[in-house]
Amino acid sequence: MPFAARVSQEIKKPHLQIRGESSLSGEIKVSGAKNSALVLMAAALLTDESLILNNVPELTDIDGMSAILQFMGVKLSRSQSSLQLNANQIQHVEPPYDLVHGLRASFFCIGPLLGRLGKAKIPLPGGCRIGARPVAEHIKGLKALGAVVSVEHGVVSASVPGLSRKLKGASVVLDCPSVGATETLIMASVLAHGTSTIENAAQEPEVQDLANLLNEMGAKVVGAGGPTITVEGVEKLYGCNYSVIPDRIEAATFLLAAAITRSIITVKPIVPEHLNAVLQKLRDCGCELRYENNSITIFPGDIKGVDITTQPFPGFPTDLQAPFMALLATAQGTSVVTEKIYENRMQHVAELERMGACIRLQGNTAVIEGVPQLSAAPIFGTDLRAAAAMVLAGLAAKGTSQLEGLKHLDRGYENFEKKLNLAGANILRHQN
Ligand code: UD1
Repeated sequence: MPFAARVSQEIKKPHLQIRGESSLSGEIKVSGAKNSALVLMAAALLTDESLILNNVPELTDIDGMSAILQFMGVKLSRSQSSLQLNANQIQHVEPPYDLVHGLRASFFCIGPLLGRLGKAKIPLPGGCRIGARPVAEHIKGLKALGAVVSVEHGVVSASVPGLSRKLKGASVVLDCPSVGATETLIMASVLAHGTSTIENAAQEPEVQDLANLLNEMGAKVVGAGGPTITVEGVEKLYGCNYSVIPDRIEAATFLLAAAITRSIITVKPIVPEHLNAVLQKLRDCGCELRYENNSITIFPGDIKGVDITTQPFPGFPTDLQAPFMALLATAQGTSVVTEKIYENRMQHVAELERMGACIRLQGNTAVIEGVPQLSAAPIFGTDLRAAAAMVLAGLAAKGTSQLEGLKHLDRGYENFEKKLNLAGANILRHQN
């Protein structure tokens, strides 16, 4: 029996069978941003009125956040991509560890709970495969706003002393521009007494999306998208109808799928300013990009190696490090990729090597000598973005690859293989 057939017989876990040497064409539609949607859902805790979020992707992470909010008492219903949330009655402010575990964004509920009710108890979500994921900056900021915070037995307990149970505006300078800490502190301060400033704030588009939603709800948040954010506390927030921004990481993953298969495709909707650092690297690699309204068409040329260092926004995003490395594994010449955000986000290197990639890893720096062709193998997606990277590698490789680790992929990419198949890929999902 040929090796590939034997391997596919032996695999019992859910996996994707990815046919290599694929060619893609046409247009791929981008879903709403996972990282925005998760935090916007938490913002529903800030009002007793209904919040309708449109363009919410169907993902297991969104299901996880829904379950946490429902546990707290939030009424939630979905109609296609719209999610209606009503936090009229919050019954529990302490979600259990088994719901919170594995969904880091669940911790972001601490800000709105403290802001609205003056108390919250959230289990620490813990680290994950890519790194430790501390929340010290969140806690430091909440303390500055007047909360009493303690961490015991893996649970963060926070409460606001005094009769009014209201947080008080304060100035916070973050040690590092943490996305989650910035979002937590914005949500904590929108209902506080007085004015807060967050300096060295994260500038990611998802932070801007949160500020835009909160302002629609009646908040006064100024400066999101820049390093200093000012929040003037208001008495009350209201319901509204709001659309989540397109997922910049998903959009770029599809552009990279085109580049690695040397195919011409159009990706939309896309906000190019959310992806400037990545689009520049694609051009440096030899890709031509044509912009039209809210779409980008990519024309890959001969792909050349480039150097990449991950940085907070507007720098190159860590979430695209692995997918871009898959492309560089097939580029002409040498590339150097340095991961600066997470201490353990190089696990895809070993998987790419199994497909014939030539990569030397020194700490968090990978030196990649491009090879003319990857070869199919049984592979594993070690985390969400690594799994996407391995799908891309599988599309380009010679032969048919089997990818396990789909629980990671399904956390963050809506209908990933379906979208790629509509563009000409041949990816089959096997449940066992
Ligand atoms: C968010 C994204 C995630 C992305 C990351 C960085 C969501 C749901 N997730 O995660 O996909 O990879 O931004 O762009 O939006 N740090 C500290 N102390 C803290 C908090 C963070 O040192 O208190 C450090 C982390 O260890 C890491 C860096 O700051 O090195 C970035 O983390 P952060 O921006 O907080 O990431 P998340 O908000 O968890």
